Amino acid sequence: MKVVKEVERETEMKRKTYGNDTLVVILLLVNLVVGVLSADNYERDDFPLDFAFGSGTSSYQVEGAANEDGRTPSIWDTFAHAGTRYGDIACDGYHKYKEDVRLMVETGLEAYRFSISWSRLLPNGRGPVNPKGLQYYNNLINELVSNGIQLHATLHNFDLPQVLEDEYGGWISRDIIRDFTDYADVCFREFGNRVLYWNTINEPNVFANGGYDQGTTPPQRCSPPFCVRNVTRGNSTYEPYLAVHHILLAHSSAARLYRRKYRDKQHGFVGISIYTIGFFPLTNSEKDQVAAQRVRDFFSGWIMEPLLHGDYPISMKRNAGERLPTFTNHESEQVKGSYDFIGVIHYCNANVTDNSDALSIKMRDYDADMAATIRTPDIFANEEYPIAPWGLREELEKFKKLYGNPPIFIYENGQRTPSNSSLQDVSRVKYLHAYIGAVLDALRDGSNIKGYFAWSFMDLLELLDGYEASFGLYYVDRHDPELKRYPKLSAKWYSRFLKGRRSSVVETIELENDESLEKSLDSWVNFNSDNKISEKQRSGMENHWFQPRLLVEWNNAHKAVRIVL
Ligand SMILES: *[C@@H]1O[C@H](CO)[C@@H](O)[C@H](O)[C@H]1NC(C)=O
Ligand SMILES: *[C@@H]1O[C@H](CO)[C@@H](O)[C@H](O)[C@H]1NC(C)=O
Ligand SMILES: *[C@@H]1O[C@H](CO)[C@@H](O)[C@H](O)[C@H]1NC(C)=O
Ligand SMILES: *[C@@H]1O[C@H](CO)[C@@H](O)[C@H](O)[C@H]1NC(C)=O
Repeated sequence: MKVVKEVERETEMKRKTYGNDTLVVILLLVNLVVGVLSADNYERDDFPLDFAFGSGTSSYQVEGAANEDGRTPSIWDTFAHAGTRYGDIACDGYHKYKEDVRLMVETGLEAYRFSISWSRLLPNGRGPVNPKGLQYYNNLINELVSNGIQLHATLHNFDLPQVLEDEYGGWISRDIIRDFTDYADVCFREFGNRVLYWNTINEPNVFANGGYDQGTTPPQRCSPPFCVRNVTRGNSTYEPYLAVHHILLAHSSAARLYRRKYRDKQHGFVGISIYTIGFFPLTNSEKDQVAAQRVRDFFSGWIMEPLLHGDYPISMKRNAGERLPTFTNHESEQVKGSYDFIGVIHYCNANVTDNSDALSIKMRDYDADMAATIRTPDIFANEEYPIAPWGLREELEKFKKLYGNPPIFIYENGQRTPSNSSLQDVSRVKYLHAYIGAVLDALRDGSNIKGYFAWSFMDLLELLDGYEASFGLYYVDRHDPELKRYPKLSAKWYSRFLKGRRSSVVETIELENDESLEKSLDSWVNFNSDNKISEKQRSGMENHWFQPRLLVEWNNAHKAVRIVL
């Protein structure tokens, strides 16, 4: 989690002590009249049968065993070890994969998005396959397949083998096209009889901005004055463009290889994923409106327009000039159409204002070329995201109207909470409920959406937040040497949704004995001295809470909470 300037912030966890009563949460789902324009109340059956609901993780974030069985470091290992939070053990998924797949089955996941560690499979970045790495992915894949879970595999998730970075500079060299294609070939050959959905490269737009402009994420290249960190390799004025150029060529090379060599036998699909933000002009002025579209060009158009038309957006060519590489006619033809689906990653929205003055500065980076000011919520602080699903609607609408309505998997979407906060993650339930509703609305409006993956299946190592922020449906107790997993309320809610229970069913969910429930309630509403919520407070709560309406009622007698969706 990603983008824009890093906001380092110490989040003080305030802990309070409460009694040890076992708390019971009753989920009461009341059928509301479905609004015409907004899917407030829906169930699994409202989505097509072949729509895939899943959740995701990635290799370095969960596997651990970073130095085991022949794996070599990736650029993410190097980045992480320069700081204090790394994935040497992570969630120990490498050893706990069976247990984790069992949790997925219990949750009712229909699909799982994971990533393959390039340096585990090919420790030299190319050449001989590591038999233990191969065995691990075969084991994981078999476990998932035998449980009927659809597989979505990502080939590159910020984790280029360090050896290739050292050898020729990784993604800023054309050599990467050959090596990535060969790596993809190994994956298609070894796993393609069971994995049908291949995401070549995860969010190249963020990878390039963080990794080659600001220097905040691996491989941490940048040049002054654009560096957020004090590093002295790289050049922010053109390397982000060069890296994405090679990513697009490597992607299309792998996609062509799949079509030529594997598709007839394996019948799978190859796509690429893009990090999106819901961009809104701050004012109605034409300048701000144009700026919002320009920013979208720089985020999504950067990838989508070459895939659609074989060339970069006009606004990028105009503002970046010669620093933006050009495709030869041959390359242009190869990149065009080299996708079967697009992975959309989305968490939050931003206000955009025009900043064309930036263009008067001669030395510019990718950010300056956008010529806009982007205001997001503090997305690197450990705070919850605002629940504002209209941003996802907006971006999906743009994919429909501007980018040819491609088949889309929502590959990441989810709510962030501090990792220690509570198993009663009502804010995550609210977030997921609202955003899945927005996906249903978009689907009904003609968007070609094929699936939705909640990020993340369990609490894991986040790129910038480490273990301090969490997105998981399952809590991982990092203070337990066994790294035990516990379902959060969101896991139970998602499970209930996936299992298609009718919404009129009243159900009691026993939660783990968890003192934090009262605490989290406390932050929404102040109880009267006798712990009864007044009518006034209740209506205040309803207002306070974002649609779709979710009402929590405190039942003092039963020490229970009723959640009305
Ligand atoms: C950056 O690093 C160099 C060399 O280590 C040092 O001299 C300089 O003061 C640092 N600059 C900042 C802004 O930290
Ligand atoms: C980065 O590249 C630009 C050309 O785009 C050049 O003018 C500048 O000197 C380079 N900066 C560094 C730090 O090498
Ligand atoms: C965008 O601006 C509106 C109006 O000023 C404000 O309510 C909203 O919080 C802003 N959103 C972000 C993401 O900054
Ligand atoms: C989480 O809580 C434990 C104790 O329960 C504490 O030791 C740890 O530092 C906390 N972690 C964070 C990230 O706040």
